[in-house]
Amino acid sequence: MRSAIIGLGAISTTHYGAIGRAGGEVVAICDIDEAKITAFCEKTGCHATAYKDYQALLSDRTIDVIHICTPHYLHADMVVAALRAGHHVLCEKPLCIAEEDIPRVLAAERESGKHLGVCHQNRYNESNLALKAMLESDPAKSGFGTVVWDRGEGYYASGAWRGKWQTEGGGVMINQALHTLDLLLWMVGQPDSVQADLHNRHLGGVIEVEDTASALFRYEDGRVFNFFATTASGADMPVQVMVATEGGQTIVAANDTITVNGEIRPSDSGDIRYGKDVWGDGHAKLVRDFYTCIKEDQPFAIDGREGARVVRAILAMYRSQGKEETLTV
Ligand SMILES: NC(=O)c1ccc[n+]([C@@H]2O[C@H](COP(=O)([O-])OP(=O)(O)OC[C@H]3O[C@@H](n4cnc5c(N)ncnc54)[C@H](O)[C@@H]3O)[C@@H](O)[C@H]2O)c1
Repeated sequence: MRSAIIGLGAISTTHYGAIGRAGGEVVAICDIDEAKITAFCEKTGCHATAYKDYQALLSDRTIDVIHICTPHYLHADMVVAALRAGHHVLCEKPLCIAEEDIPRVLAAERESGKHLGVCHQNRYNESNLALKAMLESDPAKSGFGTVVWDRGEGYYASGAWRGKWQTEGGGVMINQALHTLDLLLWMVGQPDSVQADLHNRHLGGVIEVEDTASALFRYEDGRVFNFFATTASGADMPVQVMVATEGGQTIVAANDTITVNGEIRPSDSGDIRYGKDVWGDGHAKLVRDFYTCIKEDQPFAIDGREGARVVRAILAMYRSQGKEETLTV
């Protein structure tokens, strides 16, 4: 696979490594900031053709697949343009930040006949795969997801696009907690409504967006699922998804462990823990899977519709302001 990366900031080197591990070759890179291009090449040893204008990169016919690693507000336009230019596209999360972008992104995916994938790499963590498999035979009755992380002023100062509705599209929900909410939707299914509250607890005056969010997701059949996320913690805690099942089990999937009724379950390989590499390996697994789907012309599970699902849920949380909002897929 001949790959390109647009946006050479913090996450770009993870993509570079994942592309190599999937047997791909980075043949083109792009950033509007020359210093980012230089730093990326020095760090990775990459000698790909460098572009400062992504539109110019799009007309490079040697590229098979484009990885979009730019700030959130650019995703929708770049995805649409890259698909229309005839490339497969892997977009970093979130797929987009506005409801009105969803139809045009999905239309470009459909009409181009190309593959669109979204980087929800935590679906590849062994602990989450194990929980998902367990819930298929013993469904969740109720649950709770948490993201308790530390993002201070320094983090927001690291990019002018961060912390603003216009360019980041939200705070902890659309950026950090999107992954965990995506896991909930993937494992438990699509809720029918959400009631959410947003707060800015520790960075008032520094960021416009929420640093803390709580939500109650309701299902038509009466089930409920609570969610709490904050970046106002003093440290990064393990992300958790906890469920009580119809069969009476209590299951906790954390970053790298799964606990069933209080006992840590061994994985199939006999290790005590599921997936010790979860923080670093999700991208590599996802990129490998995406490339296999492209080569074999098979559907990729985390496509435009799946990427849009969690964006829609988060936008409904933003609209909610404490009232119940209906969710659509
Ligand atoms: N999946 C994950 O776990 C994960 C982790 C971190 C970041 N991300 C996502 O990756 C994306 C990038 O995040 P980041 O932390 O690397 O941001 P960043 O600010 O470090 O990097 C963004 C880069 O995009 C470049 N850029 C801006 N406008 C551009 C344009 N028009 N054309 C080309 N390049 C342009 C910037 O110069 C910068 O180098 C975001 O969507 C973020 O949410 C995902």
